[in-house]
Amino acid sequence: MRILITGVAGFIGHALARRLAVDAHTIVGIDNLNSYYDVTLKQARLSDLAGLPNVRFHLLDLTDAEGMQRLFAESRFDCVIHMAAQAGVRHSLSHPEVYGQANLIGHLNMLEACRRHEIAHLIYASSSSVYGLNNKIPFSVKDNVDQPASLYAATKKSNELMAHSYSHLYGLPTTGLRFFTVYGPWGRPDMALFRFTRNILEGRPVELYNQGDMSRDFTYIDDVVEGITRLVSLAPERGGTSDTPYRLYNIGYGRPVSLSEFVDAIERATGKTAIRDYLPMQPGDIQHTWADTEPLFAATGFQPCTDVADGVERFVSWYRTYYHAASPPICAGSSQAGLA
Ligand code: UGA
Repeated sequence: MRILITGVAGFIGHALARRLAVDAHTIVGIDNLNSYYDVTLKQARLSDLAGLPNVRFHLLDLTDAEGMQRLFAESRFDCVIHMAAQAGVRHSLSHPEVYGQANLIGHLNMLEACRRHEIAHLIYASSSSVYGLNNKIPFSVKDNVDQPASLYAATKKSNELMAHSYSHLYGLPTTGLRFFTVYGPWGRPDMALFRFTRNILEGRPVELYNQGDMSRDFTYIDDVVEGITRLVSLAPERGGTSDTPYRLYNIGYGRPVSLSEFVDAIERATGKTAIRDYLPMQPGDIQHTWADTEPLFAATGFQPCTDVADGVERFVSWYRTYYHAASPPICAGSSQAGLA
């Protein structure tokens, strides 16, 4: 298949591009390489893909509607995997406009491009944060009682509603994925695992929100990639207006872990003791997440299976190699082999 991946220099986009390229698909990846976090990490992810002959990269922002239309006109995509977004729950309180542009306008541009070019399957990123203040656990896509607690979560819920309308009106087959706190090698520096590992290794305190009384259904990156890979080959049928080809799944491990157990796992993996600072609950945050994994299993026969002990160890091992190598791999630009 010829697959477009947006956010290809991001955490999930990069891992997915690598896997699908190894599986012999042709990958066109786009990213705007924004500076939300360390751009050299994004460039290093692109360098990691540069050795794969069937991956091409274009620097492109989703808000550039004309650039998007040009890209779609030049290439015939069999599937679009839309991972690009402004991520981060707590950051959305201080930077609302960025979320409106990237997550609402960007998503609309993507839907429009897919509609005009009759794309057979659009897979896009949503988030467990959509469930928000709903406390019916485990969180199920069937319950439909979402109460987003942050603007970020509200934009992700909006993405699902917009996708639903395009599926309903135009028969565009869409699959939304509610990711549950994805972690692992090449992970995001703004997320807990990265921050905690860095601080523990440097002997600085880790800040635990809500006095540490939080839990997350932490989900390992390889499991996320496996789930998406299976869904790529299972496009919903293009339908009429009554039977909408619209699907939504949780992608989560299926067992929540407390923040303190999570820090314990990082201590074991690093061999160091954390200095734990207890802070109040952060506005927009939710206390617990827990995925109902049954619908994904029913559709794909796959159940995420990497536990936190194993996943954290693999992350710490990657972190040590990446940051303690003499010079981390840095992509000099977009003209490397395999990247255009
Ligand atoms: C993460 C991602 O940032 C979102 O992009 C994604 O949509 C979301 O997961 C999701 O799965 O829905 P979050 O769960 O807040 O959001 O992930 P982390 O930033 O890794 O935080 C994990 C937990 O650690 C949260 O309970 C958070 O409050 C806590 N935390 C985080 C701290 O106690 N201290 C910190 O310094 C950072």
